[in-house]
Amino acid sequence: MDYLVIKGNNKLKGSVKISGAKNSALPLIAASILAKKDIKFINIPNITDIRTLIKILVMLGAYSSEINGNEVVINTNNITNVKVIYDMVRKMRASILLLGPLLARFGKCQVSLPGGCAIGARPVDLHIKAMQKMGAKIDIKNGYINATATNGLRGAHIVFDKITVTGTENVIMAAALAKGKTIITNPAKEPEIVQLCEVLRQNGVEIVGYGSDEITIIGTDRELLDISNVSIIPDRIEAGTYLCAGAITNSNIIVKGVIPKHLESIINKLSEIGFNFNINKDSIEILPSKELKSFELSTSEYPGFPTDMQAQFMALATQCNGVSIIEEKLFENRFMHINELQRLGASISLLGSIAKINGITKLKAADVMATDLRASSALILAGLVADGESVIHRIYHLDRGYENIEQKLLNLGVNIRREK
Ligand code: EPZ
Repeated sequence: MDYLVIKGNNKLKGSVKISGAKNSALPLIAASILAKKDIKFINIPNITDIRTLIKILVMLGAYSSEINGNEVVINTNNITNVKVIYDMVRKMRASILLLGPLLARFGKCQVSLPGGCAIGARPVDLHIKAMQKMGAKIDIKNGYINATATNGLRGAHIVFDKITVTGTENVIMAAALAKGKTIITNPAKEPEIVQLCEVLRQNGVEIVGYGSDEITIIGTDRELLDISNVSIIPDRIEAGTYLCAGAITNSNIIVKGVIPKHLESIINKLSEIGFNFNINKDSIEILPSKELKSFELSTSEYPGFPTDMQAQFMALATQCNGVSIIEEKLFENRFMHINELQRLGASISLLGSIAKINGITKLKAADVMATDLRASSALILAGLVADGESVIHRIYHLDRGYENIEQKLLNLGVNIRREK
């Protein structure tokens, strides 16, 4: 298995181009099931999760041709198989995003229940309840969601008692082809949800209210959509991760090809720690700070502080003066990176869902193990400031969500190499 070797204590410099957003590309690729012809996707991140989802669509009978690493054409008209098998879902739980579109277009599908993962049980009960509300018959057997809606789905009023990103996306895609009006109360408001709705609206679906507390969708009653070109928005979490690389090494770097508005809560927290920024239309420059102050944060749904940046800020907290407090409110087990950061010398205590991080700690190189996508980027950040050569194992987690990470870090002046 590949591993990364990072020699710490280099200052970073220069700029990094941010790739397309994984969590926008995944639902939009699933939405290709709703389209009547070829869709050309551009600015797609060249990462494992995207390749896995495209592979699943091809297994179902779709056609895909890659133009280059970041452009692909997908056509779903020849899908004949609507069973998404466990072996693929266990590799990528976001395959649950096929439930809504397959059901809406074909009136039936079997999607394996995604297992839990390192950060929590990750149930999909809210997805299932919503599909049932829209008229689907669902029974769970042998680990599969067996769903049928022989006369298609019908619009309904879906009230999410808990905000769910992919749950909202499944309902939006199902509602797009349903018969009648769907209202979603308490939807997720992430920029990735907004892009999905904009693409559907630009291609004939009446949708209003996305990004607010209520979305209304008038379905086309199984009239397929005329989607042809989609350009993926930049990845705000990748951008935030590189800003943390600049912050933890107290360097001056620029992240390019971003939408600064999507990073407001991240920039706000880095400002509290003491950093200043030059923010332009599509780039953010972070400037070194004379002191890194400890901070407090609680994760919450967008536009609050993103849970996907929690691990990265925990690594940063080891270099902040004083005791920082981090509360994880979305997932019940998103602290697997604590043990690994402690191996590097971090002083962290965990009580329930609240972690206390003592800074400033001089980190020392060690062998550490990535446990999930964002935890692995936190270990890289810690490796940037650890004395000696840190070795990060199981970096397939990283390759799921960060395109060309070692090349991008090398270009910023990091002493990093990938070993077989
Ligand atoms: C999406 O996961 C993201 N993945 C995650 O990013 C992100 O961490 C998460 O949203 C929160 O922002 C994609 O977009 C592909 P949720 P999702 O449904 O949709 C509970 C990454 O690093 N819940 O918003 O699976 C759930 O257990 C990944 O790119 C239910 O109880 O998250 C959690 O506690 C990691 N029942 C909370 O809601 C359900 O049916 C939020 O989960 C669904 C969710």
